[in-house]
Amino acid sequence: MINRRNLFAGTMATASTAATLSKAMGKEAPFDWQPRGTIGVFERLPSLNVESELDFITGYRAWMGRSLAKQAHARSLDVLKRAGVNMNKDGNINDLVRILTEDQTVSMMVHNIERSQEQFWKLVKQECDRNAEVLLEEMAAAEKLGPGTLQLNADLDIPDYACYEIHIQPGGYVGDRFAGHIYFYGTATVLMGGNGQDQLQRAWVRGVPRPADGKVKRILDQGTSCGQFAHALKDKFPEAEVWADDVGGPMLRFAHMNSVKLGKEIHYVQQLSEMTQFPDNHFDIVTSNLLIHEVPATKIDEIAKEAHRILRPGGVYYPLDSYSGDQPRGTALAHYNAWRNYRWNHEVWWMEYYGYDHAKGMRDAGFKVDENGPKGRTDTTKNVIGYKV
Ligand SMILES: C[S@@+](CC[C@H](N)C(=O)[O-])C[C@H]1O[C@@H](n2cnc3c(N)ncnc32)[C@H](O)[C@@H]1O
Repeated sequence: MINRRNLFAGTMATASTAATLSKAMGKEAPFDWQPRGTIGVFERLPSLNVESELDFITGYRAWMGRSLAKQAHARSLDVLKRAGVNMNKDGNINDLVRILTEDQTVSMMVHNIERSQEQFWKLVKQECDRNAEVLLEEMAAAEKLGPGTLQLNADLDIPDYACYEIHIQPGGYVGDRFAGHIYFYGTATVLMGGNGQDQLQRAWVRGVPRPADGKVKRILDQGTSCGQFAHALKDKFPEAEVWADDVGGPMLRFAHMNSVKLGKEIHYVQQLSEMTQFPDNHFDIVTSNLLIHEVPATKIDEIAKEAHRILRPGGVYYPLDSYSGDQPRGTALAHYNAWRNYRWNHEVWWMEYYGYDHAKGMRDAGFKVDENGPKGRTDTTKNVIGYKV
């Protein structure tokens, strides 16, 4: 028996949505229509217990970022310098790992980041599995609703490279029916709650430029996950038809449900960003946020080529990611941190990504590239932007 207090009640929060959903389901919707509350776009977690556990992990990670990570950074510089490492070069990764793994502060930080990461994923997944019946019904009901549409593709041949449990997310993006829920609530911890109102996504979308002629009829957001970047795009370009793709069906089911709840018209398609269903010259803008570090380098190339094909002349390609601007690379510490992310955060493709030359990849795909584009993921970094000529 499901305890009403323990539901992800309010994933569809409003009474009017409840009525529409009940109609779509042909019976009374099995949700608690007095949910614990909505914070902007973000639903409160179903029980105080889960919420406080996640809050604790979030607070702990905030402390790590403020204190432990700074100490570990200072220690790393010190230890590497004392070992005679040239800090301004990538250096040999085996040497860097050996030197830094011996340092207790650095090891403690690595251990703490990764263990806390495992903890919050597990917490959210357990809660989803506990409430499986209701959550599945909720997503199924939303599939019949708009605004926007959802095209799932059960026959999609999902490539092996997309089947890893990237950043230790249980089941990854394609292997758990609640991948969307898990990602949504889990990343709220990683982002310190910064996506609770889609506010980070809105900040990251600010840099997306209009094509020179100002016309934006259609936009595609690649690798959209829970659709938060797509929502921000719709807010910035309300006149545009916004499409969003992802390889993961569960991601898109959750994204569509969320968009329905928020009344955002987004059209979701389950497909590979490197092989889309769209005709040539179809979009004015193609974006992605945090997609390309999660695919092999050859696929980043293919995704850029596909973006070039489906953009109209004058269209804008805006792939945003950790190194898609002038973020530091090519130092011993950056090299070690990339390896740490690859090895301990199970970011399977990160080392290929670390070595990837974005501007070159985009030029090879046919774009005219601006390497000093608008601000990217932080206020100090610029984003590489491609223009189809
Ligand atoms: C880190 S998440 C993206 C986050 C999201 N864009 C945002 O702004 O919140 C990466 C997403 O890319 C998707 N993905 C990975 N490879 C893909 C591919 N070849 N085509 C489409 N989506 C892909 C994953 O399923 C996952 O949802």
